[in-house]
Amino acid sequence: MNKPITLPHIDNFVRSDEHRNAIQDLIPGGAHTYSKGDDQFPIKSPAAITHAKGAYCWDLDGNKYLDTLMGLTSVSLGHAYEPVLERVKEELSKGSNFSRPSVIEREMAERFLALVPQHDMIKYAKNGSTVTTAAIKLARAFTGRDLVARTAEHPFYSYDDWFIGSTACDFGVPREVKNKTITFKHNDLEDLERMFNEHPGKIACIIGEPEKWEVIAPDFYEKAIAIAHKHGALWIMDEMITGFKTDYPGSIKRLNAEPDMATWGKGIANGFSFCALTGKKEVMQLGGINRTGEKKLFLVSTTHGGETHSIAAGLATMDVFEKEPVIEHNQKIGQYFIDGISSILDRRSLNDYFKIMGFNWSVGLGVMGQDKQPSMEYRTLFMQEMIQRGVLYQGILSPCYSHTEDDIDLMIAAFDESCEVFQNALDEGVEKYLVGDAIKPVFRQFN
Ligand SMILES: Cc1ncc(COP(=O)(O)O)c(C=O)c1O
Repeated sequence: MNKPITLPHIDNFVRSDEHRNAIQDLIPGGAHTYSKGDDQFPIKSPAAITHAKGAYCWDLDGNKYLDTLMGLTSVSLGHAYEPVLERVKEELSKGSNFSRPSVIEREMAERFLALVPQHDMIKYAKNGSTVTTAAIKLARAFTGRDLVARTAEHPFYSYDDWFIGSTACDFGVPREVKNKTITFKHNDLEDLERMFNEHPGKIACIIGEPEKWEVIAPDFYEKAIAIAHKHGALWIMDEMITGFKTDYPGSIKRLNAEPDMATWGKGIANGFSFCALTGKKEVMQLGGINRTGEKKLFLVSTTHGGETHSIAAGLATMDVFEKEPVIEHNQKIGQYFIDGISSILDRRSLNDYFKIMGFNWSVGLGVMGQDKQPSMEYRTLFMQEMIQRGVLYQGILSPCYSHTEDDIDLMIAAFDESCEVFQNALDEGVEKYLVGDAIKPVFRQFN
């Protein structure tokens, strides 16, 4: 960092407050993803975004922020990224939904499958939950088994009952469904064997994010998938977050893995609603219509699944990833941030209170309180201070192609100043500095 940086002091949330007061009575949860909701942000924060461009976004009061989570990590190139917009506009002018499939569906299928040589067939949807649930259904049909095993540590796979029933937020999920999902420890072959031995012949599949907080051994998936297959279960690799981030197309390539199915979404269409399930033919074809006399499996069938402009956004995003060094840039930006905040934490002797988690493609931050244990109050305070300094920060930097080192310098400067307030709060108590309530876990039993 060379130049001095003057950070803003954002304190005008008048319109945001008005919006906050109205929205909970209009929309349950006030948002369409729980992690965007009011209980996930300090009161001194934007309640809604009016528009965004590149790495920046603006709120109802006209405040400008550096964006860091980038549409829950889905915006891999930047907001309103021109080459993607151009392609989307071109497609929109041709109509977006027809009575038979659009030709663009084949173009995408051939192109995406060429990126995933492990897989033969692909199916699209508008949401990640739809494709993870479709993979579970296929695995159950293929194996004739009911149990689904998921990694215990990873926060989210679907809003459908098979997953939500296995969290603290299981209200409304029938017990029979809830009992059909079990968990095991990610990145732990022994625990995987333990689980199979406890449920012999019952587990249809494993679903897991390929890599999350910890480094995975290069031969982990070869061994893990072999264990699953030995026990007659399929492996589903959920690349929703890792896709187009760890590598192109994702960890399936980086870790040289051969899962039976993989699910893709965030990041593959620069924030447009395009998700996909890829898989091996023997499994995927169960959802087909040409195996005369065989049982028909109702896989994914949605009115908007083949929406043309979202697929076009995916194709345009792939063009950019293939022509430009997006992965390298994004990981370099993430590393620049890690290096910058590491030296601040060293200089301020704050390593007991902050934990940098994850990788250069997704940099997470654990925040601890006075007792050096994870603290929602201190986490919220830190967010409040970053937001006040013009950085819309929820504890994760998901680097995108529009982030520059100058942007990250701004973020690092905001981080440094926020640490100052954080240290004062450690000395004098968080209540003195935090305005309003602390954020709450998304997966909780009670409001
Ligand atoms: C790993 C993972 N899988 C699946 C999903 C579900 O995706 P969507 O929100 O598009 O339904 C998410 C969403 O956060 C996710 O993080």
